[in-house]
Amino acid sequence: MSVRIAPSILSCDFGNLQRDFELINESQADWFHVDIMDGVFVPNISFGFPVMEALQKTAKKPLDVHLMIQNPDAYIQHFAALGTEVLTVHYEACTHLHRTIQAIQQAGMKAGVALNPHTPVALIENVIESLDLVLVMSVNPGFGGQKFIEQAVEKVRQCRQLIDRINSKALIEVDGGVNLDTGKRLVDAGADVLVAGSFVFGSESPTQTIAALKQL
Ligand code: DX5
Ligand code: ZN
Repeated sequence: MSVRIAPSILSCDFGNLQRDFELINESQADWFHVDIMDGVFVPNISFGFPVMEALQKTAKKPLDVHLMIQNPDAYIQHFAALGTEVLTVHYEACTHLHRTIQAIQQAGMKAGVALNPHTPVALIENVIESLDLVLVMSVNPGFGGQKFIEQAVEKVRQCRQLIDRINSKALIEVDGGVNLDTGKRLVDAGADVLVAGSFVFGSESPTQTIAALKQL
């Protein structure tokens, strides 16, 4: 199966959101990647439910929501009601991660866990069996357009080994600094889903850039 591409709407033109959502609909992208930041877990605030509602009305592809917030448990039902397909929480934000994963799945969504660059893959060994997705952060979360952290490639490899060993169905997604060069190395290391924000929307033709990433 070819790599899935999830353009991050954080890099859309917020004065022309509808246009950019339609662009993703008409492109070869697989998912919409939706970055929710609370200004507490990460040093930035992105957008919240009103943007999600607008997206839900327009999106013809699954919504892949990345919560960079403290206390994600409080919002699981909200995101389920807004048509989220995959809901990803941060390992570092969840004291009772196993319970949070169960709550996401009981709400009818797929459950993902994101790992900050400093968080070892080994820490999710005891939840990987029930996970639907692991999100390897290849930048420190909070902003688009940052430099790729090389260590992420090795983390993807470790993740692939862990998933194969446990025979988990979890997909490996990578987020931050993805372009054709880093993307290729991540796919070779075992990544299933690539998030790309500034590389797609900062390019002359986002549609063609998505198509090029899809070929990796
Ligand atoms: C960063 C976000 C990313 C961001 C990626 O905290 O999680 O999804 O939009 O942006 P680029 O692709 O520009 O690094
Ligand atoms: Zn993200």
